Amino acid sequence: MKPNIVVIGSLNMDMVVQAPRLPVMGETLLGKSMQFVPGGKGANQAIGLARLGAEVAMIGRVGKDHFGSELLSSLQAGWVNSTGVKNTESAETGAASIVLAEGDNIIIVVPGANARCTPADIETQIELIERADIVLMQLEIPLATVTYAAKVAKQLQKTVILNPAPAQKLPPELLACVDYMTPNETELAILAEGQTGLEECMDAILTQGVRHVITTLGAQGAAYKEKGKTLLRIPGHQVPVVDTTGAGDAFNVGLAYAIGCGHALPDAISFANKVAAVSVGRFGAQQGMPTLEEVVHFSELCK
Ligand code: RIB
Ligand code: NA
Repeated sequence: MKPNIVVIGSLNMDMVVQAPRLPVMGETLLGKSMQFVPGGKGANQAIGLARLGAEVAMIGRVGKDHFGSELLSSLQAGWVNSTGVKNTESAETGAASIVLAEGDNIIIVVPGANARCTPADIETQIELIERADIVLMQLEIPLATVTYAAKVAKQLQKTVILNPAPAQKLPPELLACVDYMTPNETELAILAEGQTGLEECMDAILTQGVRHVITTLGAQGAAYKEKGKTLLRIPGHQVPVVDTTGAGDAFNVGLAYAIGCGHALPDAISFANKVAAVSVGRFGAQQGMPTLEEVVHFSELCK
C-alpha cells in the first residue's frame, strides 16, 4: 500500500555557500562555492516522500518569478502533485541563505510568498487533504494557516504530523490536533517554555495535548514519548557528513512514510533515522533524499 500524504508548507530557493569556517561579525571570508538549489522544508519533505514511493501532493505558494517556476518544475520532476502550489503576484519566491562550514550549517530564511499561504488556500485545496491519509506540516508558512489546516485535517480524521521548525510558541488549538510532533533539541527547548531536561521538556509538550513527541538528536538518533509512558531512545547512525541541510526534513520524510505504511512507532523512528543518515552523506536538501532501495541498502550495511 502506497501512503498518501499531503505536505503543507514552504518552498524556497536555497543559496548555498561553502566556506572553510563561519566568519565572525564584520569579517570578510573567501568561500569555496555558491550554488542555487531547490529547498524549503515543505518542498524538501514532499520530494523526499515521493522519492521513497509515497503518493504526494503539496500545498504552498511561490512568487511569479524565475525561482518560483524552477521550484515548481523541481516538484514536478520529483513526482509531487503541485496543483496545490499557487503563484503569488505580490511577493517573491521564498529564499534561504545557507552557509555550510565545518560539517554543519547556518540558515536564514526569507519567507516571501510562503507568508502568503493563507487558510483560504487550504479551503481551496481541501480535496487534496480529503484524499490523503497523513498531513505533514512545518512552521515556515503562517501559523494561522498551519492551525487551520490541522483543524481541518483532524475533522477529516487524518493523521497530523508537525515538524515544529523553525520553533515558535504554538496555540493550544493547534497542539490539540497534533498526533506526532518532531522537534530537534533546540526547538524542543523553545516549545517547552522554561522546562529543562529532555524528558521534562517532552512531558511539557504532551501536557499541551500532543499525542506523541519525537525529539531528533542528530547522530544520536531520536527519543520518543507518549503521555504516561516511559521515554524511549532509538539510536541513530555515525556516518560521514557531507551536508546536514535537510537532515531534519529527511527524518520527517522517513517517519511519515513508515507511519503511512502502518509501521509501529519504534520501527518508524528507526527507519526515519536511516533516511536522515543517508541524506547527510550528500549535498543539497532535496538531492540528498534517498530512494527506498537506498534506505534498504543502508539498513543492510548496518546489520
Ligand atoms: O530544512 C532545510 C531547509 O530549511 C532548507 O532547504 C531551507 O530552505 C530552509 O527552509
Ligand atoms: Na544532505
